[in-house]
Order: sequence, then structure tokens, then C-alpha cells
Amino acid sequence: MKRRAISLALASLFAVSFAGTASAAPMVIKFSHVVANDTPKGKAAEFFAKRAGELSNGNVKVEVYANSTLYKDKEEMEALQLGAVQMLAPSLAKFGPLGVKEFEVFDLPFIFGNTAELHKVTQGPVGKMLLDKLEAKGIRGLAYWDNGFKSFSANKPLKAPADFRGVKMRIQSSKVLEAQMRALGSLPQVMAFSEVYQALQTGVVDGTENPISNLYTQKMHEVQKHLTLSEHGYLGYAVIVNKKFWDGLPTDVRAQLEQAMKEATEHANKIAQAENDAALDAVRKSGKTTVYTPTPAERLELMKATAKVHKEMESRIGKETIEAVQKETGFDPAKL
Ligand code: LMR
Repeated sequence: MKRRAISLALASLFAVSFAGTASAAPMVIKFSHVVANDTPKGKAAEFFAKRAGELSNGNVKVEVYANSTLYKDKEEMEALQLGAVQMLAPSLAKFGPLGVKEFEVFDLPFIFGNTAELHKVTQGPVGKMLLDKLEAKGIRGLAYWDNGFKSFSANKPLKAPADFRGVKMRIQSSKVLEAQMRALGSLPQVMAFSEVYQALQTGVVDGTENPISNLYTQKMHEVQKHLTLSEHGYLGYAVIVNKKFWDGLPTDVRAQLEQAMKEATEHANKIAQAENDAALDAVRKSGKTTVYTPTPAERLELMKATAKVHKEMESRIGKETIEAVQKETGFDPAKL
């Protein structure tokens, strides 16, 4: 993979420098991601590509590689740092392995009560402070894109904490998600998104968590008999670029891309809820998965069972970061 990444890095360097000299060839920006085109992130990436082309009068060509066709989760971060790809939008749960553990604050169970509370963070000073931490890794954070709140799925109903005991749950590469699953008594397994469907199908894992748009577009509902609309945590994205690449862009091109990103972010955040609602309808219609909405009392049980994760993860995420987010959202697990 390393050799492939390096040759791609060279190829992309040529693509960029050619565009600087020869007027005919557009500058190519490779935007890699792991979900289907027909998802909030997939649609926002396509929207960005379209607007970047229009606003730059065709001087920039954004090539979107969806569904892990170019890189899987872990590889894409390496590829971005190497310059083999210029733009990504990894979920906020995937920045820990990069060394920016503070992003795992977004994974804390129940920390956001709704999208308005979330936006206070992603569109305010705390969100900016977090994006700024990426600079030290050679990465510039451009925006946050919404997906939505996660549901649990498995082949058995997951309602009360006791139902989770011993269940093998696929998670993203976040220590907070690991702690959340352990707090519920389940057995977390980190796995690339591209491998989840097969792992569920073959029983390598029993269940998982994701917003419904991800579940449905990967056909996970075909191999998961039960879905609990628990909304126990949030999944969204940071759109990131290779800093050297971004800083090296001609000022006018960068301004065009910033405008395209601004519009794409508005678009992403506008469509995310509707995409998830449509996916939920489609899952219900498929008849393959029983959808369960927990009662307020059941949700409270899940909250109580996972509340300790906030304290446990203080040493990893940083007390100040957790408190800064809790201050915006008003959620205090100690008061449950
Ligand atoms: C996952 O791995 O479950 C998600 O991060 C996929 C995505 O990018 O939405």
C-alpha cells in the first residue's frame, strides 16, 4: 500500500504543478471517502465538486472517490498526509489514531441532545479550536459536515443495557466508543467501514451503530434483524485537506474553493436529516429489520449505563475539552 500511496503522491504532485504552468489541464483534487454516494457525505462531496468546478471556471476538477474505492479508513489518513489525496471527510471518531484525541469528545454518549446543541459546538469557538489542532499534523480542517445520530443494530433487540451483554459490536477507531460499548457490557471490535457488511453477514460481529443512512446504503439492514432508534451518540465529519497543498494554492483558487466549501457545508447540513429520514423509511419498507423506538425510560437507562464514560475518558480527551462541550450543550452526566 505504501508504494501505491507514494506513486499516487507523485502523480498528484504532477497534476498540481502542471495546472500551475499549462493552462489547459485543470488542477485535480482527489477527494476520497468511505460511504456511498447516496448519503449525506456522498451528496455533499458531489455538491462541492460541482461548485468547485463552476466557481473556478473549470480550472479545478474535484474527483470524488466514494465507497472506499481509493482508500479505506486508516489508509486515507496516511494518504492525505503523504499528499496522495488532497481532501477527505473522515468521521470525527477517526482522528484518535492520528493523535488528535480531543475529537473523540464528539463520541461521548448522549453529549448532544439535538442538532442545535451540536451546532453550537461545530459552528462555534470550540469547533474551531478542535480544527486548529490538526495543523500540527500537516492537516487543515475546513468544515464540519453533519450526518446524524446513531442507532444500534443487531440480530436481537437491543433495548435495555442487559441486552448488550456479550454482544460483539463493530465500532470505529475511537477509544470513547470502545468505552461506551464496554460500559454496556458488549465486546467492541474496531473495523474499517468497508468491512462491516461482510463481518455482520458472516457473524464476525453481531451488531453495530451508525446513522440510518450509512446502515441502509451499505445494505446492513439485510443482515441485521433489529434496529433501535437510540440516538445515543452523534456521527459527523471534519472536511480536511493536506495543509501544504492548501497553502500552496494560488490565492484566487483557494478563495473559490473556500466559497464552494461554504456552500457545500450549508448543503450537507441541510440534507442530512432528510437523508436519514428517507433511509429509515426505506429500512421499514424493506421488511427485513424490526425498528424499535426506545421509551424515554429505556433511553434513560442507556444514559445511566454509559454516563461513567465521560469521567473515564477525561484523561484521554482532556477535561477542559469535555467541559467546553458540556457547557455548550448543557449535558451533565453527573446529574442523571
Ligand atoms: C463508520 O465507519 O461507521 C463511519 O465513519 C462511516 C462514515 O464515514 O460515515
